Amino acid sequence: MARRERKEAVRPVIILDNGGDTCKVGLAGQATPRIIPNYAVKPKREQRLYIATDIDELTDFSQLYFKRPIEKGYVVNWDLEFQIWSKIFGKKGIDTQTKDAVLLVTEPLFNPNPIRKTMDEVVFEKFGFEGYVRLPPPALAVRGYQVEHPSFAPVCALVVDSGYSFTHIVPVIEYSPVYPAIRRINIGGKVLTNYLKETISYRAWNMMDETHLINTIKHRLCYVALDFEAELRASRIPSESPLRKEFVLPNGTTRLVGYVKGEYDDPAVQKSSSSSSSSSDDKTGVSSSSGSSSAAAATVKTESPQGSSDGETKVKPEPMETTEDEQSEQERQKKRQRKDEEEDEEQVLVMNNERIAIPELLFNPSDIGVQQAGIPEAIVQAVNAVPEQYRAMLYENILLVGGNALFRNFKERIERELRPLVPEEYNIRIHVPASPLTTVWQGGNAVACTPGALQSMCVRKSEYQEHGARVCAARFRNTETY
Ligand SMILES: Nc1ncnc2c1ncn2[C@@H]1O[C@H](COP(=O)(O)OP(=O)(O)OP(=O)(O)O)[C@@H](O)[C@H]1O
Ligand SMILES: [Mg+2]
Repeated sequence: MARRERKEAVRPVIILDNGGDTCKVGLAGQATPRIIPNYAVKPKREQRLYIATDIDELTDFSQLYFKRPIEKGYVVNWDLEFQIWSKIFGKKGIDTQTKDAVLLVTEPLFNPNPIRKTMDEVVFEKFGFEGYVRLPPPALAVRGYQVEHPSFAPVCALVVDSGYSFTHIVPVIEYSPVYPAIRRINIGGKVLTNYLKETISYRAWNMMDETHLINTIKHRLCYVALDFEAELRASRIPSESPLRKEFVLPNGTTRLVGYVKGEYDDPAVQKSSSSSSSSSDDKTGVSSSSGSSSAAAATVKTESPQGSSDGETKVKPEPMETTEDEQSEQERQKKRQRKDEEEDEEQVLVMNNERIAIPELLFNPSDIGVQQAGIPEAIVQAVNAVPEQYRAMLYENILLVGGNALFRNFKERIERELRPLVPEEYNIRIHVPASPLTTVWQGGNAVACTPGALQSMCVRKSEYQEHGARVCAARFRNTETY
C-alpha cells in the first residue's frame, strides 16, 4: 500500500473545469490554469477548422462560424469534445500523457446519466486515464475561494455561478450542493452576447457573424447599472448621454482588433480584444426585446474619411518603431491608436444605453421574455429552500463566480436589491474572487493537492475495466459530498 501511494504521488493530476465556453486546464500544483476555447471555429473564407488551441493561430477574428460540443450546459457532441480535449492535453496544450495521469474534471449540475456514461467511456477508453473523478463546480468554487482567502471557511456558502450557459444559484453545505434548493436562471454570457449582437444588428450594422467582436465590446463596455431606470432616463438624448462611448471597429486590414475611443491608457484595450478566448455562438438567438431594455440604440458612424489605407494588405498593425527599451507596450499602443484615429477611415460604433441594457437581463430576464426571477430574487428562493438553521450562514457567505461576475457593479447591484428582500436579522456578505473565471479550477487544484483527498474519490482504470460505468456512478454519488 505504501508503495502504491508513493507511486500515486508522482502521477500527474490534470484538473479540467470543462465550461461551455472555455476549458480551464492545468496540472495540480500550478498557480493558474490555461484558459482554452471549448469550441472550434471556421473562418468564413477558409476551409480549415481551428480546434481549441489552434485558435491561437488566428489573426483575424471576423466572420467565424462556431462549433461547440456543449449546448445548453451539457456535452452533446462527444466527437468534438474528444478532439478538443486531445488538443488541450496535447503538445500545444498542457502536453501531458493521459495514460499516466489522473483526471479531475467538473461535470455540470444535473448532468443526465447517458452523458455521464459517455464521459466515463471517453476518459477511460479513449484517453486511457489511470484514474478519474468528476465533481460539481459550485463545491469546488468554495474550495477555490478558500485558497485566496484562507479565513473563508464556512459550513455553508451560497454560490452564484453566472457563466456562459446559465446562472446557477447553489446552496453548498459542507462542500455538498443542496440539490433540491438549486435555482437556475436561463441567462448566461451566451444570451447576453446574442442579445447585444441582435441589438446592434437591428439598430446599426449586421453583426450576426461577429461573435468575437461583439464579445469584446461586451467585455469592454457593458456594466451593471446600480439604478437602471435613472441611467436609462439620463441616456435618452444620445448626444448628451453620459453612457455614450465610441468603439472603433476593426477595419480588416491595418487594424484587426477594435478599441474604445479615447481610452489610450488602458492596456486591456488591445489585449482583451485579441486574446479573448471567450465567445458565444449565434445559433440560438434570443427573442427580441420588450420592456425597458428595448430602448437600446447603438449606431455606427464613419469618421474622418481622410483617405483609407489605400489597399494596404498588412495582416497586423505595424508596431511603431522604437529603439528605447523603456518605451512600454502601452505607449506604443497609444501611438498606434492615435495614428488610427488620425489617419484611418474609422468605423465607429456608438454605444449608449445597451451598455447597461445587456447585463440588465441577469436582473430582469423578462426583458427578453424569459419568465424567471432575476438573481437577487432567485437567491432568496434558493435560501428559503434550505432548512432555517442554515439561512443566516448562507446570506453571510454569498460567493459570485463565473465570467459575468466580471461586469462592473455586479456585486453592488445584487447587494442593493437583496437587502430589502431579506429579513433584517440576517447579515448579507457577498464575496467576489480576484479571478472569478478560474475559481472553480483553483478549487479542483486545492482538492488535488490535499494529501489523500483524491485517492478516496478516484475511480481507477482497473476498477472501471472490471465493473464498468456502475463503479463510477456509485463512487461519484458519494463524492458529491467530499
Ligand atoms: N470581462 C468580462 N465581462 C463580462 N463578461 C465576461 C468577461 N469575461 C468573460 N465574460 C463572459 O463570461 C462567459 C464565460 O464565463 P465562464 O468561463 O464562467 O463560463 P464557462 O465556465 O465556460 O461556462 P459554464 O460554466 O456556463 O458551462 C462568456 O459568455 C464571456 O463572454
Ligand atoms: Mg463554468
